Amino acid sequence: MSHNNTGFTVWLTGMSCTGKSSLANYIAARLHQVGRNVEILDENAIGEELWAGIGDTKDERVTVMRRLGFVGHLLTRNNIAVLVASISPYKAVREDIRRQIGRFVEVYVDCPTEQLIQRDSSGRYRRALSGEIPNFIGITEPYEPPGAPEVTIHSNGESVEEGGRKIFQALLDLRYLTTDEWKVIGGGEGGRRKAGPKTAKRRPVPGKGSRKARPASRAARVVKASKKASGRRS
Ligand SMILES: Nc1ncnc2c1ncn2[C@@H]1O[C@H](COP(=O)(O)OP(=O)(O)OP(=O)(O)O)[C@@H](O)[C@H]1O
Ligand SMILES: [Mg+2]
Repeated sequence: MSHNNTGFTVWLTGMSCTGKSSLANYIAARLHQVGRNVEILDENAIGEELWAGIGDTKDERVTVMRRLGFVGHLLTRNNIAVLVASISPYKAVREDIRRQIGRFVEVYVDCPTEQLIQRDSSGRYRRALSGEIPNFIGITEPYEPPGAPEVTIHSNGESVEEGGRKIFQALLDLRYLTTDEWKVIGGGEGGRRKAGPKTAKRRPVPGKGSRKARPASRAARVVKASKKASGRRS
């Protein structure tokens, strides 16, 4: 493995509906801002390609995790920022994958089950509770939380933006993200500062100093227009 590898895998684990896919998409969009090559491996989107025909026993879930881990490993060693969104319920298997990938950031997305049942954006909790889905992780099958994840997000109290910030902080601490990249991504402001409307909106106040302020505000409009022209949106 190259010593200047810039790849890493952020592995989002947690029960269904905790917010793993939401976080993966949020992080991916910001990494794109700094020109990173990014791949999202979302277990709900790539099953047809990677494990068609595989069922839902414990052994089969382990197989799915290992395939995700293997693809994550291939991409990570080729400088890709990989975001895995997978319930991936088994602690020992995640630990194996951590060793295999090396540059691995485990993110535990946690939320009380009652809240997940209320969210139930996919309707799968309702079907699990009515017995329609017999082996449902967190309801009738155990979910094994990580012992020492790099990041824990409580999505009942933390927004996607707040969770995202914690993940970027971990990436920064591990030096998988540079401080220059972090500045562009938003430095804790969620990228809002980059859009620049704050400066542009500071219109000259009528009366004292308004004449002096005008050139500055014109400059701000030019900056804003050039940013718009370059296609950057917040
Ligand atoms: N931090 C959050 N706070 C509140 N609601 C959230 C948060 N993150 C996600 N949600 C909402 O919870 C629902 C589930 O989110 P998401 O699809 O990202 O979960 P998931 O963990 O990927 O679930 P699955 O494992 O079933 O794919 C969505 O309606 C989403 O808008
Ligand atoms: Mg998902």
